[in-house]
Amino acid sequence: MSQPIIIVTGANGQLGNECLDAASREPQWNITGIGREELDLEHLGDIEEIMDDYKPDIIINCAAYTAVDKAETERKKASLINSEAPAHLAAWCSKNKALLIHISTDYVFSGASNIPYSENDTTDPVNYYGQSKLQGEKNILEEDKNAVILRTSWVYSEYGHNFVKTMLRLAAENGTVKVVNDQYGSPTYAHDLAEGIFNVIRKYISNDFDKTSVGGTYHFTNSGITNWHDFAKKIFEMSETNCVLTPIPTAAFPTPAKRPEYSSLDTSKYRSAFNWEIPHWEDALRRCLRNMNMS
Ligand SMILES: NC(=O)c1ccc[n+]([C@@H]2O[C@H](COP(=O)([O-])OP(=O)(O)OC[C@H]3O[C@@H](n4cnc5c(N)ncnc54)[C@H](OP(=O)(O)O)[C@@H]3O)[C@@H](O)[C@H]2O)c1
Repeated sequence: MSQPIIIVTGANGQLGNECLDAASREPQWNITGIGREELDLEHLGDIEEIMDDYKPDIIINCAAYTAVDKAETERKKASLINSEAPAHLAAWCSKNKALLIHISTDYVFSGASNIPYSENDTTDPVNYYGQSKLQGEKNILEEDKNAVILRTSWVYSEYGHNFVKTMLRLAAENGTVKVVNDQYGSPTYAHDLAEGIFNVIRKYISNDFDKTSVGGTYHFTNSGITNWHDFAKKIFEMSETNCVLTPIPTAAFPTPAKRPEYSSLDTSKYRSAFNWEIPHWEDALRRCLRNMNMS
């Protein structure tokens, strides 16, 4: 088995698109992206049938219910997509000796820490999105203890909807923006996360498709820590965008879902397992803005 068949779910999202772009760097792999129109993960009964058709060696699950605030009221939907569908993917992988690479979130943590969270730290989500993602992790590991779970944070890309694009849009529309400066974390360029996923696959292939060589939960973010206000500041600086940026406390910007105050993740386990120094978030942001023709 030298040319793995790889399925990317959530192919129309930020990370899904970046994985498909990264696929052009591995032309010998057989990679297919499938979007919601082909497989709606709310239809749990379709998952096995579609995977039986493709017979993948590897599934990269980039699909998720990512509307953090809406998840508070659309709990059933969030739970189907983030908790139950991943269990079905894992069960299929376990039965068919395939590798599941699933993406989870920093929002599984409460944010009460002031040092980066390690994989073994206690989880305690403060919103329903985080709860649904955490339940997804648990369900996956019940079905397949050798699945790969990569927790990441503050994802952005030239694709889809994200903070970087929102800041540039608000600056263009209003010339002024207020951003919270008391939530800390690590912005992650989906391009780098896709590369991180491909590193997992390369190691898996070089170990003769032995799931135990890669299985486990890892933290993956760009390096460095910032807050949303300082992230916005860098976006405007690097893109030479004129905008009046005002820092505000979270209390001045109430949202339906609470956010963790601090959600930086310690990535040392990933870096040592896959032998890769993950780029700093400022370097990643510069590359993303360049790819958007904004710098
Ligand atoms: N974005 C972040 O800041 C962040 C932070 C931490 C972790 N993560 C995790 O990173 C992963 C990738 O996120 P992302 O930023 O790439 O998210 P994204 O851009 O919102 O993409 C998610 C994709 O999932 C698809 N999807 C939603 N419901 C579906 C369903 N019922 N059936 C099939 N597909 C469905 C969406 O389809 P449509 O295009 O049709 O809507 C979308 O293409 C997710 O697991 C997310 O939880 C993200």
